[in-house]
Amino acid sequence: MAEELILDEKLSKEEKYKSLIPQIKALVEPEKDLIANLSNVASALKYGMNFFWVGFYLVKEGELVLGPFQGTVACTRIPKGKGVCGACWEQEKTIIVDNVEDFPGHIACSSLSKSEIVVPIFNTNKKLTLVLDVDSDEPASFDKIDKVYLEELAKLISSKL
Ligand code: SME
Repeated sequence: MAEELILDEKLSKEEKYKSLIPQIKALVEPEKDLIANLSNVASALKYGMNFFWVGFYLVKEGELVLGPFQGTVACTRIPKGKGVCGACWEQEKTIIVDNVEDFPGHIACSSLSKSEIVVPIFNTNKKLTLVLDVDSDEPASFDKIDKVYLEELAKLISSKL
C-alpha cells in the first residue's frame, strides 16, 4: 500500500520531526525488507524535513557502501575513519559538522554540501551496520534537536536489523 505523508511547511523543525516520526514508524513497522524501509526513510526525511541530501551507507566487506538515498549522485565507497561517515563508523557516535571544510578528510560528494550530521545504526547484536548521513547546503544546519530525533529513527531501524 502506498502511503502519503502528511506534512506542514509552517511547523518548527522539532514539530516536523514529531509529526514525521510516527508516520515513518507506521510505514516501516509492517515491512521486513531493509532496502525498502531505508528507501522510504530516506524519502520521508528528504521531503518531510526538506533536507539537501539524505542517505544510508551500509557496512559491507570492510567499507561503507552507498545504500538507499535521496539527492544528488554520491560517492559509493568510504573507508573506515575517512570523512564524516567513516569517522562516525570508527567512533560509533553521532557526529555533527557545522562547516564541512573544517572537518579533516571530509569527502566532498557535492560542492553544495556545507554541513552535515551522521548517525550510527546498530543491529540487535549492537554491531554498527549502517550510518545515516544527512547533508545541508547551508552551514550549521544541525543541532541537538536533529540528534535526538534522528537517533530515535536510528533505534527504530535498529530494531529491524
Ligand atoms: N559527506 C560524507 C560523504 C558522503 S556524501 O556527503 C553523500 C562524508 O564526508 O563522510
